[in-house]
Amino acid sequence: MSDQSPFDVDVETMTRFVMEQGRKAKGTGEFTQLLNSLLTAIKAISCAVRKAGLAHMYGIAGTVNVTGDEVKKLDLLSNDLVINMLRSSYSTCILVSEENKEAIIVDPEKRGKYLVCFDPLDGSSNIDCLAPIGTIFGIHRKDSLENPTERDALEPGRNMVAAGYALYGSATLVALSTGQGVNFFMLDPAIGEFILVEQNVKIKKKGVIYSLNEGYAKYFDPALTEYIQRKKFPEDGSAPYSARYVGSMVADVHRTLKYGGIFMYPASKKTPKGKLRLLYECNPMAFIMEQAGGIATTGTQPVLDVKPESIHQRVPLIMGSPDDVEEFLSFVKKHQTSA
Ligand code: F6P
Repeated sequence: MSDQSPFDVDVETMTRFVMEQGRKAKGTGEFTQLLNSLLTAIKAISCAVRKAGLAHMYGIAGTVNVTGDEVKKLDLLSNDLVINMLRSSYSTCILVSEENKEAIIVDPEKRGKYLVCFDPLDGSSNIDCLAPIGTIFGIHRKDSLENPTERDALEPGRNMVAAGYALYGSATLVALSTGQGVNFFMLDPAIGEFILVEQNVKIKKKGVIYSLNEGYAKYFDPALTEYIQRKKFPEDGSAPYSARYVGSMVADVHRTLKYGGIFMYPASKKTPKGKLRLLYECNPMAFIMEQAGGIATTGTQPVLDVKPESIHQRVPLIMGSPDDVEEFLSFVKKHQTSA
């Protein structure tokens, strides 16, 4: 083929990328197996999201999940897809899903060494209005577990071996980190493969966007109130920040990674522990954020250092460009010392 060919005949797919990393680390291939199965689920979810209207999959399925959110038909389908694909990948032992009250212990004959915590379809309030939604996952390695139990899932995020998310936006993208930086892979629907499009992604040191549900301002504490006021009315002659909030964590975090700035779901009088779940929302995103050079904190400690007490636990979350998060923390400190 000539150099003018529109086809890349040596394309870097996600599977190839992970196999290369596995070979370097002298792995067994089990992680590649896991990832391939997860990617199958993600491709199927992407497909279902895109034809949800035609397939009559909008709307509420009629039940409420363990954390109180309304469960949509697409949530159920996504959850079943991820569970079935991971179970049959022969690479997992424990699965923790946002949609399941208890951890799923994989049958002994199908067991492998990985624990996967996931939110199969995050941002479900955005399904009906066609705004971006996503899938989030965090992966731990649990060598030599004889009898895995739910308690074995209570690992700090710092111990993850990989994490990532799929964003079902104007295109389908997967962000993945195996602890050596963050890489973006875009789904090429023509061949059904995720193609490496951005390598070793780094977040800006400082951004110009703040992102949170400001409708809850009535419940904010004085530190947060003052920080947001300062973003709108800077005292140093700089321009005010822009406000952006999709209300789908995956979309808000992805924008923060791409453009810089700060994303928060903080503690407030309305939600003293925040809203977002530690194991399958905050931890995977914090892992990605740190790997991209950003900061992810609860306001009192790095998210990844929180020792989980229960699988559906919530934590406050503040993440993004290092200078922006540090600035927010300086307001927290100021208000603590003046209290
Ligand atoms: O946890 C689900 C979720 O939809 C996140 O994706 C999102 O960041 C958050 O909830 C939005 O919550 P709220 O509607 O309170 O702003």
